[in-house]
Amino acid sequence: MSRSRPPRIAVVGGTGAVGQTLLGLIEQRGFAHDSVRLIASERSAGRTVPVLGKTVVVEDLRTADFSDVDIAFFSAGTPVSAEWAGKAAGAGALVIDNTNAFRMDPASQLVVPQVNGALLAERPISGIVANPNCSTIPLVRLLRPVHEAYGLRSVYVSTYQAASGGGQNGIDELYDGARSILAGDTAEARRFSQPLAFDVLPAIDVLQADGFTLEERKMRQESRRILDLPGLDLVATCVRVPVENGHSEAVTLECDRPVDAAELARLLDAQDEVKVWREGWPTPRTIVDAPDLVHVGRIRVDPERPNRALLWLVADNLRIGAALNALQIAERAVQEGIA
Ligand SMILES: NC(=O)c1ccc[n+]([C@@H]2O[C@H](COP(=O)([O-])OP(=O)(O)OC[C@H]3O[C@@H](n4cnc5c(N)ncnc54)[C@H](OP(=O)(O)O)[C@@H]3O)[C@@H](O)[C@H]2O)c1
Repeated sequence: MSRSRPPRIAVVGGTGAVGQTLLGLIEQRGFAHDSVRLIASERSAGRTVPVLGKTVVVEDLRTADFSDVDIAFFSAGTPVSAEWAGKAAGAGALVIDNTNAFRMDPASQLVVPQVNGALLAERPISGIVANPNCSTIPLVRLLRPVHEAYGLRSVYVSTYQAASGGGQNGIDELYDGARSILAGDTAEARRFSQPLAFDVLPAIDVLQADGFTLEERKMRQESRRILDLPGLDLVATCVRVPVENGHSEAVTLECDRPVDAAELARLLDAQDEVKVWREGWPTPRTIVDAPDLVHVGRIRVDPERPNRALLWLVADNLRIGAALNALQIAERAVQEGIA
């Protein structure tokens, strides 16, 4: 598909945390576009919002027409994508979906451009490219080079996920809860299962029959698909922590071959958009000056088991874990001529 003009864009969920981050990135990265439409629920429909130097009226998804859209970004929740993404793709848009609705769908592609962006040479059968989970994206960007250099046998990961992973309501709930507790009151749980302020919650998303949560299952299934390693042994424990934005992960890697810590640091530092911290370590607060990099620290090898390496990573979940990955998919899709 080749077009003389840049793509016409629609952002479904454009008033939310991911949608707003995406609009900022479109401006920051100078992503060429012919027009931008903002689509949300009836709650926001009719509101006027400044978007990329223009004033845009938010549209109601229930009456939205996608026939004049080239790229539709969806970040309005899994049920919304399950109902609407196919309709938008059917009307001709390339859908880039931030939810869990199509990540394991064989007719759709699950893409992290730095890892398997070559898949974007062809438009997926469904017309939908899925963005992986916010913790999976930075992890697989490190796992790929480790696998190529040392052979990955097992991956054990514990996540420390920020309130913004629960959207704007999650951020508001953290601040409201902290204020209530500091005022001597009790905090209320709305978006999360329990009050998050001054606590950590060792379960994200729905608990499954096997005792794992859906978030933990997503990390395993999605990593296997993106890395094209269906047998990869990867196990996760996903934890919500009272941080506003920025997910962290403690990762243990069991490899086929012995790992040299300095060599592993050089290997990861050489990856696109990855920064290895050789002094100190990254935290959600210390990465704000470079939010579009995956930050890695505390790279070490177990002295008793030379095939076992450990590291700490931090990445901005709203950007790398959602909006930036989605926009990088769009950039590559335009380059490949599939959008
Ligand atoms: N936050 C993250 O770090 C992150 C990372 C990866 C993926 N995601 C996924 O991205 C999606 C959005 O996350 P978020 O953090 O941006 O959430 P959010 O801040 O709560 O925003 C939700 C957006 O969806 C819209 N929306 C909700 N229900 C709708 C409906 N029935 N019809 C049309 N629009 C509707 C909202 O519009 P109104 O203004 O009308 O309410 C709002 O624009 C979720 O599926 C989430 O799992 C989030």
